Amino acid sequence: MRKINSLVVVGSQWGDEGKGKMTDYFAQKADVVVRFAGGDNAGHVINFNGQKHKVTIIPSGIFNPEVTSVIGNGCVVNLINLVKELETIQKSGVKLGKLLISDRAQLILPYHILIDGAQEEARGARKIGTTKRGIGPTYQDKAARLGIRIADIEEKDFKETFKEIFDYQMMFLNKMFDIASISFDKTYSELMKAYEVIKDCITDTGIFIEKAIKEGKKVLFEGAQGALLDIDHGTYPYVTSSNTSANNASTGTGISHKLINNTLGVVKAYSTRVGAGAFPTELLNEIGDGIRERGHEYGSNTKRPRRVGWLDLVALKHAIRTSGIDYLFITLLDVLSGVDQLMICDKYIFEGEEISYIPATSSKHEKCEAKYISMPGWKEDITQVKSFDDLPTNAKNYLNKISEICEIEITGFSVGPDRLQTVITKEIM
Ligand code: GDP
Ligand code: IMO
Ligand code: MG
Repeated sequence: MRKINSLVVVGSQWGDEGKGKMTDYFAQKADVVVRFAGGDNAGHVINFNGQKHKVTIIPSGIFNPEVTSVIGNGCVVNLINLVKELETIQKSGVKLGKLLISDRAQLILPYHILIDGAQEEARGARKIGTTKRGIGPTYQDKAARLGIRIADIEEKDFKETFKEIFDYQMMFLNKMFDIASISFDKTYSELMKAYEVIKDCITDTGIFIEKAIKEGKKVLFEGAQGALLDIDHGTYPYVTSSNTSANNASTGTGISHKLINNTLGVVKAYSTRVGAGAFPTELLNEIGDGIRERGHEYGSNTKRPRRVGWLDLVALKHAIRTSGIDYLFITLLDVLSGVDQLMICDKYIFEGEEISYIPATSSKHEKCEAKYISMPGWKEDITQVKSFDDLPTNAKNYLNKISEICEIEITGFSVGPDRLQTVITKEIM
């Protein structure tokens, strides 16, 4: 076996850290890029050559023609949306790489989307604020062994099996939520139409990825969402329904964890969160509004304004532990230019005591008050900065402080959305 050259790029906060941009950046020298969790609840924005692209389920490696992009078994796939997304990016004129899709990935079907909406409605004040893409119900069905995997479509009796499951789902929707049935024939024919378009991409991707790594190819694993939205280790129940943390890069792709040698945690220079849940460093003032406007912090998928806050290192350290993060990469540093005084949360105060962990329940997390270290900001525009040495002293101090408190090396930073606005201080792939 050749030297292993694989890297997981994972979000270390509540999503939207710039994973898409970083995956695309590293993909310029990778051979394979693999998504291992989530579905089209993700929204990854990539900018290069003056063009802006967005992908939700297709890996961000797709814009590199030499790269094979893979949708792993841990993902949930809405085939109709996947085909639409493929057509959109094909129209962009960029030469795309090859796409492979795991035969074991679960299908998001129209009833999952209806159930997602109905469950959110039923939650009332405890609403999660999901993306309404059917993610939760699809993973529910996977765990309940009621899911349909892509490989099932090729089974001889698929139409009959699908009809049985479909009828059960309609009964559930009618009885539980009083929602009218949708047509089986229409659902089936739309599914098959989309399947025909992508069926040549379907394979046992675990075999492909293992072979690639063993041959010494450079393989990137692209996280979706963020470590704090992980179903086990995130801020439950205000999370998504999959294991978003880096450890799932093996289970979610069908290879041994021993074939993964590094994990890079992508961290926004401040915090954002879409949807409900505790957010001790949230900024409900003009500083937060300013960051939201400068950082264009509106969901790329749902267009919702993102909640904005100071950097939370209690949460980041939790992500570093639960995802086994080896290095950090700081994004959107440029957005902090012009903020007079920057705050970094390094502890929480919970019931009068200082703590440095996230309590297990959301109600306790809500009660945590952030304790801050204050640092002077910088005024300079840093969007053209090409090296660490070119940064204003206070920006250097800000990065050094994060590294010091988290006891982890920072391997670079990003100063704008474009591929070229990326500064690498240590090569890790
Ligand atoms: P992802 O879900 O982690 O891939 O992140 P999103 O794409 O949803 O959100 C990140 C947003 O920030 C996108 O619009 C990116 O184009 C943009 N972005 C990424 N890095 C930077 C950066 O360093 N500076 C600025 N200003 N924008 C960035
Ligand atoms: P990327 O990959 C930010 C959030 C939703 C909601 C919760 C559950 O772009 O970082 P779901 O639809 O998954 O059941 O919603 O998770 N969420 C995200 N927030 N970025 C994402 O993806 C997200 N995907 C899901 O807002 O709070
Ligand atoms: Mg996003």
